[in-house]
Amino acid sequence: MPQTSAEPRACIIGYPAKHSRSPLIHGFWLNEYGMTGRYDFAEVPPEDLTNFIKGLADHGYAGANVTVPHKEAAYRLVDELTDTARALEAVNTLWFENGKLWGDNTDVEGFLANLDAGAEGWDRHTKSAMVLGAGGAARAIVYGLLTRKIGRIIVANRTIERAQALADHFGRAFPNQRIEPVSWDDVSAHLPTCDLVVNTTSLGMKGQPPIEIDLSALPQSALVTDAVYVPLVTPILAAAQARGLKTVGGLGMLLYQAVTGFEHWFGHRPQVSDVLTAKVIADIEAPK
Ligand code: ATR
Repeated sequence: MPQTSAEPRACIIGYPAKHSRSPLIHGFWLNEYGMTGRYDFAEVPPEDLTNFIKGLADHGYAGANVTVPHKEAAYRLVDELTDTARALEAVNTLWFENGKLWGDNTDVEGFLANLDAGAEGWDRHTKSAMVLGAGGAARAIVYGLLTRKIGRIIVANRTIERAQALADHFGRAFPNQRIEPVSWDDVSAHLPTCDLVVNTTSLGMKGQPPIEIDLSALPQSALVTDAVYVPLVTPILAAAQARGLKTVGGLGMLLYQAVTGFEHWFGHRPQVSDVLTAKVIADIEAPK
């Protein structure tokens, strides 16, 4: 696809987009590696999404990230999909390759790389995992757990029908692994058999009520992680730490999901360094 601009450019497409920390992350890497390029905010209402994505190259973009509420709609607008994006039916990363617009979903690699970095070998020790929530984030995380051959994945959700739908969605493609939908009230009863607990609900996020789950039945060897990263230590992570359990915060998921997009647009695979992490933490902790 022709680019009208000399410097490579990418953007975050969302509605709203202003809250996104992707420009901070990609801007940090561009500066860190002394590269020319730009990463913009693109606040695009749903009715304008098709035109915006169809005009991406004409506007000089080498690609984009896609966030709420556009991940599913963008999935239907690309020319080519990675296996991951096809499995999730949602995309968060777009780029041009041989004239075609590709879509990937790097939330999966973001989740997995974060656990690999924070709890090396976690997948070898995880026979059963508990995923709290059944929305878009849960779909990416359940898929990631399936690709790492986790044998039993319990999906607990307030609306049990969504947990069932998520289990049905992946069940056929992974017949040798079990996805068990359970109701919110049954979480505690299942905790004694879980090696990993992942919160994907919005509970515990700044401004939201905390998650009301008693972790005391979890084995002492269990790992607890959260897709929420504001605050950095969410109530469920704090409760796990108080019990002496190992935890991995959600910020790394945001940082690692950005790596592949940067490589596609700007041609260099960036590192998730301590300096980058500190920079994003400072932004989260800055008074707004
Ligand atoms: P995302 O794409 O970020 O996962 P989502 O699709 O809106 O966002 O999903 C939000 C998740 O948080 C859902 O699992 C939701 O439960 P429901 O499917 O029952 O709505 C969960 N959630 C949000 N508020 C909740 C609450 N007060 N109690 C329990 N679960 C909640």
